[in-house]
Amino acid sequence: MNILAFETSCDETAAAVVKDGDTIFSNVISSQVDIHARYGGIVPEVASRQHLLTITPVAEKALTDAGITLKQIDAIAATVGPGLAGSLIVGVNFARAISQAEDLPFIGVNHLEGHIYANWLAGDKPEFPCLCLIVSGGHSDLILMANHGSFHRLGSTRDDAAGEAFDKGARILGLPYPGGPSIQSVTAGITTPLSLPRAWLKDSDDFSFSGVKTALLHMVEEKGERNDRWVKEAAAAFQQSIIDVLVGKTIQAALRNGVKQIVLAGGVASNDALRKRFKADSPLPVLIPPPILCTDNAAMIASCAYYRCISGNIRESCPDVIPGLSFAI
Ligand code: KG4
Ligand code: ZN
Repeated sequence: MNILAFETSCDETAAAVVKDGDTIFSNVISSQVDIHARYGGIVPEVASRQHLLTITPVAEKALTDAGITLKQIDAIAATVGPGLAGSLIVGVNFARAISQAEDLPFIGVNHLEGHIYANWLAGDKPEFPCLCLIVSGGHSDLILMANHGSFHRLGSTRDDAAGEAFDKGARILGLPYPGGPSIQSVTAGITTPLSLPRAWLKDSDDFSFSGVKTALLHMVEEKGERNDRWVKEAAAAFQQSIIDVLVGKTIQAALRNGVKQIVLAGGVASNDALRKRFKADSPLPVLIPPPILCTDNAAMIASCAYYRCISGNIRESCPDVIPGLSFAI
């Protein structure tokens, strides 16, 4: 079964063709990061206008790269939420237009579920039950997944998402947007004498990252004049603090819930130091998609749509986008 999927929830215009939920025929991603970098963050109206300009060439390239035509596509999928309303509308309308013109089923996909399904696209597939840590620009969620389509949220962030914390921390340090990749690149090979607090929120599976961000701001203000070396050490302390909490709390929750595996997803899961720490510290197997499948892409949306299809759980006539959608549609 070939699914053509679209992802336009934020600032990436993406289209992909995936066969049977696990074989990527094409995966095209047009990033707007350079456009938004000059504003220090995503400007929603700029994002939706850019999706409008790029979605047609991105869709054509997805079919060309896959070496197939629309006649060989069995279903169309698109992210319906959560995300920016204006951005979601472009992808969903485009996808629904194709599905109606070609008389194909349309499958509306939850972006967060999609992130998890990146783990079905690369090598070994997750075994159930597994514990999923979704860490993106908008979410930090611990999800117990008992089966396809069965999601139970154990915890989430009470304030900033992990990716949002990386973005805000980088801005405090004067590093470019997006903050996660910036912090990763300046901290490579850096050991730091600096330390920042960790919010463990004992007896809860929730996270909190606003405190460490404020502590970083105070550290920067107290320092006053700062050189490149100090900025790198402060960035390393900030990254370390976030990683310690993500890794520590996820492993504790996994052991407590008796899962077979830990599964990572979302843009922050592409962080090199986080990936290494999980592999080093976890007594359970840890699955992490390759970095290109951690950040936003449409292949993960196609995979999620496939498993929805085969379990008969299709949102056929999803009439609208759902910007505030949570688990699970
Ligand atoms: O999943 P994603 O591509 O989009 C959302 O659904 O939000 O995640 C984007 C987030 C941004 O906050 C970005 O700074 C963060 O993921 N990110 C990283 C890294 N690459 C992207 N954070 C830490 N380290 C990275 N290497
Ligand atoms: Zn995402």
